[in-house]
Amino acid sequence: MNQFECIFCNKKYPLNPFRQFCPQCKEPLLVAYEKKKRIIHSDAINPLEKFRDFLPFDTINPDLQLGEGNSPLQKLNRLMLEFGLPETYAKNESINPTASFKDRGTAVAVQIAASLGITRIGTVSTGNMGISTAAYGAKAGMETFVFTKEDTSTEKLLSAGIHGINLIKVKGDYGKLSHKSFKIGKKHNIYFMNSTDPFRIEGYKVTGFEIYEQLKKKNPQFIFVPVSSGGYLIGLIKCFKELKEKKFIQRIPTFVGVQAKGSSPVAQAFAAGKSKYKRINKPSSVAQSITNPEPPGGNIVLKLIHKLDGMVIAVSDEEILAAQKLLARFEGLFCLPASATTLAGLLKLQKKRKFNSTDRIVLVITGAGVKNINVLDPDTMKIKYTDLSELDKSIASIQD
Ligand SMILES: Cc1ncc(COP(=O)(O)O)c(C=O)c1O
Ligand SMILES: [Zn+2]
Repeated sequence: MNQFECIFCNKKYPLNPFRQFCPQCKEPLLVAYEKKKRIIHSDAINPLEKFRDFLPFDTINPDLQLGEGNSPLQKLNRLMLEFGLPETYAKNESINPTASFKDRGTAVAVQIAASLGITRIGTVSTGNMGISTAAYGAKAGMETFVFTKEDTSTEKLLSAGIHGINLIKVKGDYGKLSHKSFKIGKKHNIYFMNSTDPFRIEGYKVTGFEIYEQLKKKNPQFIFVPVSSGGYLIGLIKCFKELKEKKFIQRIPTFVGVQAKGSSPVAQAFAAGKSKYKRINKPSSVAQSITNPEPPGGNIVLKLIHKLDGMVIAVSDEEILAAQKLLARFEGLFCLPASATTLAGLLKLQKKRKFNSTDRIVLVITGAGVKNINVLDPDTMKIKYTDLSELDKSIASIQD
């Protein structure tokens, strides 16, 4: 039988969506698998089918899926040339059904919910996870509850609300809201699949399996991932750890977690050589979707990153916005500021260390830029206005 496990005290617990934290250490639990042979079912197109031996179920109900996964791994040729980078790729998770990587996790958590007969699900979110949970909840016909931060943008609020869910904007501390949601969930029988939900993290692994397959089993040397709660990075590391345990690869890539400077409790703890982070009080960044002041997965990230010789770094809002523009202008990739932290982090690191020309680098692009257009400045885009009769003249003036 698969179980939950605390990687701090190594205690095991039964799989239970209503008990996601170690009662002793208060840290999130992760899924531990019983030892058995695992293979990749390469003939399957559905990623949950293909990697099912690494996931916490034997059968998959495709009626609960929205077509998540199989995202492109795009070679960043033009940026490589411009910045003298080694082979660099973007794993573009913006193409998921609700335009962010969150669908990877929600897809798996909803399969589990349905298999256990759970009919009420929920999440606490700054936006993307709320939209994803709302969409999958609607597809599954489950009653869905989304608690959002007071400052959640109207676009994000409405993109969740359209699915006909119970949407509650909550005034108050966001870190405390997550703790409270679990208590409310137990009382009202709502399975809260928040950012470090153990099953959600299992779904996040699938991005990693796809990277492994798309690179034709050549391991990348570096993988850059944005970090807020830490759930996605934990999932990606877990994927490569399991690939190594099962002898698919010999070495785990170096993971670089990237936070926004104005909300970087994990990067600060890493820089200070600490094993536990300290929550911050006033998170603020242009990368609004990665501003969790009290990341529930922060200590697991620190433990794994220290053990595997990875790093967690922080980048400024200026660096983030510059990287967002670079991805759009050189590669046709319009991503969220949160996702652009990966390129900002790579360019920052490149100044400090030399990459080998044989290195392979993957930037995980977590969400689509259209979700947050309010960060863009039209004045920088040189938009021209002209009358139809003047259009020809206008073009001529551009070409001069
Ligand atoms: C677009 C985007 N990128 C990255 C992240 C970071 O993921 P995690 O909270 O699992 O660390 C988030 C989290 O909300 C996000 O919305
Ligand atoms: Zn524990």
